[in-house]
Amino acid sequence: MNQRAIIIGVGAEEGLGAAVGRRFARAGFEVFLCGRTETKVTRVAEAIRKDGGLAHAVSMDATIPADVVEAFRRATENGTIPLDVTVFNAGNNANIPFLDVTPQQFREFWEIGCYAGFLVGQEAVRRMLPNSRGTIVFTGASGSMRGRAGYGHFAAAKSGLRMVGQAMAREFGPQGLHIAHIVVDGGINGNRLRTIRPHVVAERGEDGLLSIDGIAEMYLQLHLQPPTAWTHELDVRPYKEPF
Ligand SMILES: NC(=O)c1ccc[n+]([C@@H]2O[C@H](COP(=O)([O-])OP(=O)(O)OC[C@H]3O[C@@H](n4cnc5c(N)ncnc54)[C@H](OP(=O)(O)O)[C@@H]3O)[C@@H](O)[C@H]2O)c1
Repeated sequence: MNQRAIIIGVGAEEGLGAAVGRRFARAGFEVFLCGRTETKVTRVAEAIRKDGGLAHAVSMDATIPADVVEAFRRATENGTIPLDVTVFNAGNNANIPFLDVTPQQFREFWEIGCYAGFLVGQEAVRRMLPNSRGTIVFTGASGSMRGRAGYGHFAAAKSGLRMVGQAMAREFGPQGLHIAHIVVDGGINGNRLRTIRPHVVAERGEDGLLSIDGIAEMYLQLHLQPPTAWTHELDVRPYKEPF
């Protein structure tokens, strides 16, 4: 293990955050898996270790500044192995008609979708800039690019996160940090949709949704890009998805 990665927003084993953790662990990274439900992150870390990888579970809330700082402290302690990758993946979604969105709901969507990304991005830069290297990837969604009916609260947060990432890329790219944003433009065939909207999974059929392992591969490939050919924004969707 000569590189470390921290992934913020890890939960279900069949979720994108867990898949990103597994992919980096398989590539030889020591991974720090951060999520707000301890039992879930612990399960994902145990599975990676069982597979021969090196993984740590970190229970935290990405909307709390002290939790974010502590997660990065753990991911950089005994600092002989550099922290080379940060992934901000935390997020949630719900279709709520505009007139039904409460002020508290709007604020909560923004806190996890955008504000937490700012906290994580800032702490990541603080830790990585002294080495003049590192990759920071933000997970976006269709809502990063457009506001559909019933998703204004979500799109406001995700498009804000996209802008945070763009500004960071322009400020810190020239100082050696690769900052990227992935637009996940479609439903993910993972625990969330299978649990909350199983009819969508059934309707889409084979290859109708994004696979978690397929998306996770993109995070690794972004990190592996040579500094002379960096991608800032990447969109991914299944071939069947209209766009
Ligand atoms: N699912 C989709 O169809 C879809 C489509 C497009 C884009 N996306 C984006 O892809 C990303 C991952 O989605 P996913 O559905 O596959 O979920 P996931 O990666 O399995 O899980 C995201 C994790 O973030 C965690 N989280 C939420 N709030 C947090 C907080 N305040 N602090 C720390 N962790 C927190 C959640 O914890 P809990 O388990 O405790 O809730 C959840 O486990 C999200 O950014 C989402 O917007 C998803």
